[in-house]
Amino acid sequence: MSGPAPAVLHTGHAAAPAMLHVDHVSVTYKTRRGAIDAVSDVTLTIADGEFVTILGPSGCGKSTLLKLAAGLLQPSRGHLDVAGQRISGPSRDIGVAFQKPTLLPWRTVLDNVLLPSETVGLITPEAIERARALLKVVGLADFADNYPNELSGGMQQRVGLARMLQRDPKLLLMDEPFAALDAMTREALTLELQRIWMRDRKSVLFITHSIPEAVLLSDRVLVMSARPGRVVEDFAVDLPRPRTLETLTEPAFVAATQHLRRHFIS
Ligand SMILES: Nc1ncnc2c1ncn2[C@@H]1O[C@H](COP(=O)(O)OP(=O)(O)OP(=O)(O)O)[C@@H](O)[C@H]1O
Ligand SMILES: [Mg+2]
Repeated sequence: MSGPAPAVLHTGHAAAPAMLHVDHVSVTYKTRRGAIDAVSDVTLTIADGEFVTILGPSGCGKSTLLKLAAGLLQPSRGHLDVAGQRISGPSRDIGVAFQKPTLLPWRTVLDNVLLPSETVGLITPEAIERARALLKVVGLADFADNYPNELSGGMQQRVGLARMLQRDPKLLLMDEPFAALDAMTREALTLELQRIWMRDRKSVLFITHSIPEAVLLSDRVLVMSARPGRVVEDFAVDLPRPRTLETLTEPAFVAATQHLRRHFIS
């Protein structure tokens, strides 16, 4: 901010800071074959409890943005804040889900969900109770003692969701979490994610290549341009929830997907 500091600070409650604020962020990767501008001057905000999806062509910097928000990568320019705190590294307040859930094959489903608690030395009876409750939420109560290789891809991704929620993060970062699944499992998990989100109202930054998935889940869809990625549209999805499979054929839903698709027709 420029200009002199205000002489008098106003009393009363200041507005709560955004859950995620990305402020004029750019990323340049240095490689042996030169510099790659992956993200260029991106500014975006996710409010507390908001579900925001990033849609953009392959290579436009979506995963790069998510890694920045997860504290796994530092920006070349600009900065990021979570709940008003500058991001300097991975945080317990942030849950991350990737395309593959990377479960540990030698541990049971329950022990995989407990992993985030274990890494902070908190395998308490409450943590175990929470993990079991989350397995119930994702429909895997009967599989707590199975091993990952005994589960289907969709079930493994559900374990990944439960593990992400185990430490009750404020902000969820999800990078194409359903991309490796078949169409029907993907649809079912999308609706399940909506149900979990409506229950918990966590802030979510979601990445997908699927326009219908983006519209179904989101409060807002941010469209990114080709590399170096910039946000070229901030589109509010004004459809009542819960959205269902019937929603997919409603005129307002179809109009929203057609509007967004225009960005990707060359
Ligand atoms: N570690 C890295 N080193 C060098 N370049 C990288 C690195 N990671 C990503 N890039 C480059 O940065 C650009 C953006 O990559 P990123 O993975 O963020 O794209 P994306 O939008 O997630 O793509 P996709 O939709 O295919 O997953 C790409 O051109 C990629 O080649
Ligand atoms: Mg990616």
